[in-house]
Parts: sequence; C-alpha cells; structure tokens
Amino acid sequence: MCPGSFDPVTNGHLDVIGRASRLFDEVVVGVLVNQSKAGLFTVDERIAMLRESTGGYGNVRIESFQGLLVDFCRGIDAAVVVKGLRAVSDFDYELKMAQMNIGLAGVETLFMPTNPLYSYLSSSLVKEVAKWGGDVSPHVPDHVLAALRDRLAVDRAV
Ligand code: PNS
Repeated sequence: MCPGSFDPVTNGHLDVIGRASRLFDEVVVGVLVNQSKAGLFTVDERIAMLRESTGGYGNVRIESFQGLLVDFCRGIDAAVVVKGLRAVSDFDYELKMAQMNIGLAGVETLFMPTNPLYSYLSSSLVKEVAKWGGDVSPHVPDHVLAALRDRLAVDRAV
C-alpha cells in the first residue's frame, strides 16, 4: 500500500511506486480523500494522473480512501505500507505515523530511501514553482505538466 495525497503525482512518488512494484506482488496506491483540504486537483483527477503514470506496471492499482489508513489496509488485506523518505526531516513525522499504525492494527510500514534525484521534491513545491511560471518539467510526467499548466492558467484567468 502506497498512500498519499498525490496532488499531483511527482517523479518522486513514481520512483517509490515503481520500486515497490518490483518488491511486492501487488501494489495499491491509495489517494486520501481529505474533506477539510481542497487540493489543486480533484481526487478523480489525481487518480486519473496516477493511472496514466503507472499504466506500464501490471501490478499497480489506484484507489481512493477516507478515514484511517489502517482501516483501508484492513479492507483490502494489505499488511505493509511503503513510504518514501526524502530526508531525516521526513523520518520524524513518518516514524510517529508508522508506530501509531502498527499499534492500531498491526500494519507494518517499510521506509524506502528516495532516489537522491528526487530528495527535495514535493507536490507542494512543484505547485508553488509552477504557479509562478518556473520550470517543473524535470519533476513530473509530461501529462501532469500539461494538467498543471491548464489548471494554473484557468486559475490565473479567474
Ligand atoms: O502525501 P501526504 O499528504 O504526506 O500523505 C499523508 C497520508 C495520506 C499518508 C496520511 O495523512 C494518512 O495516512 N492519512 C490517513 C488518516 C490516518 O490514518 N491518520 C492517522 C495516521 S497515524
């Protein structure tokens, strides 16, 4: 199980998902439906972008979930959550969630060090840079780049 907001998916996410798909028979990418936080993209749009990006892997499927991650894991019979760690700063937050999740439901978390190429990447930074016209083409797939340009052009026109 690879959970996240994926607003939008970046090459950093895809690196982790791709590596997980080589380690596990089946990988479910779970997009969190967060009622209290509106994203740049709707959950359906994020799912479509993830599907397009991971279509080449035969063993990855994309779903959305709400509520606790461990409940979703139980529902799909996933025993392991895979999380990418970009830097020590991620570890602090991720360790707490991992410990909570094992305590709540026995769901294990495995940390995967991200490829150093992507160690500074985040969806928020990509959105921020794209919003002000910076080049994010090295950081997202082409179709995500196009979606970012479309969405931000619409936002600028409003
Ligand atoms: O991409 P993000 O926003 O860093 O992903 C965070 C996510 C979705 C993995 C995390 O917020 C999560 O698991 N949320 C589900 C709610 C939950 O289970 N919260 C308790 C975690 S201990």
